[in-house]
Amino acid sequence: MTPAAARATGECRTIGALVAEVRRQLSAAGVESATQEAVWLIEHALSLSILHQCIEPQRLLSEGESAKVQALLLRRVAGEPLQYLLGTQEFCGLEFGVDSSVLIPRPETELLVQETLRRLPPVQAPILADVGTGSGCVAIALARAIPTGKLFAIDLSSYALDTAKRNADRHGVRSVTWLQGDLVAPLAGRGLERKVQVIVSNPPYVSESDWTTLQPEVRLYEPRMALVAGPCGTELHEQLLEEAIPFLAPGGLLIMEMGLGQSGSLLEKAEANGGYCSVTTVCDNAGIERIVIAERTGE
Ligand SMILES: C[S@@+](CC[C@H](N)C(=O)[O-])C[C@H]1O[C@@H](n2cnc3c(N)ncnc32)[C@H](O)[C@@H]1O
Repeated sequence: MTPAAARATGECRTIGALVAEVRRQLSAAGVESATQEAVWLIEHALSLSILHQCIEPQRLLSEGESAKVQALLLRRVAGEPLQYLLGTQEFCGLEFGVDSSVLIPRPETELLVQETLRRLPPVQAPILADVGTGSGCVAIALARAIPTGKLFAIDLSSYALDTAKRNADRHGVRSVTWLQGDLVAPLAGRGLERKVQVIVSNPPYVSESDWTTLQPEVRLYEPRMALVAGPCGTELHEQLLEEAIPFLAPGGLLIMEMGLGQSGSLLEKAEANGGYCSVTTVCDNAGIERIVIAERTGE
């Protein structure tokens, strides 16, 4: 924000003037939904509902109130994602706390939850694992939908796990065991060999070269380790195809989210593996093959 823009925000004496000035500055910074974001930022900074912003446009602001809005606006105009500023993102109808320790949950990942619930083998007390849990959105949505289930949620990042545990508390979820480590390695030594009905994962799947081309809002603010897998992008899927096998029950499923153009090589790898009897993909609403599902042979 330029000094002039900061001064303009500081000079707003009423709510109505502030809403208009914030909207103007967001719009000038190229924010698409400037009108909507202006009221959300002010609602968050001042705990002032959108309704009150509308019905009390003449309400006078203190200097401290203007400064709070200005601080958030400064970060948004610099490109920080709105969800990190507001501290939340909705996923599967639940509100998750998010900060720079975790990827902001994406709408397309809800398909991972839907497909897991649709295909869960009919077992009284199923065991599931969520690999690369991040904010915990997938594990927590599943735990809420499967009250008899036992879940293990794994992440390499202890900071992400702290955020995920706070989200579990927020939603009253107690059936998830949170584990730090590399992919499925933390499942070892827990008597889970051939016991897990579903291993679900939204692993990092951006290649190192594609990462440099991501929008700054993603590249500069979301954790690189949540996005980048390696030179190809499918490295972690391939590792999971190998390492999931000892833990999957016969007929158990490995369900993974993937990126545009990754289905061909992943189908090939899964079919060549020998540990899976069927491999299939599911498209998202945009028609992109988004999920790969491999069924463990049932011997
Ligand atoms: C794409 S994010 C997915 C987060 C969340 N499940 C979601 O769908 O929003 C991938 C997550 O995997 C974690 N991760 C990266 N490499 C990992 C590894 N080798 N083992 C376990 N977790 C890993 C990252 O820290 C990140 O939280």
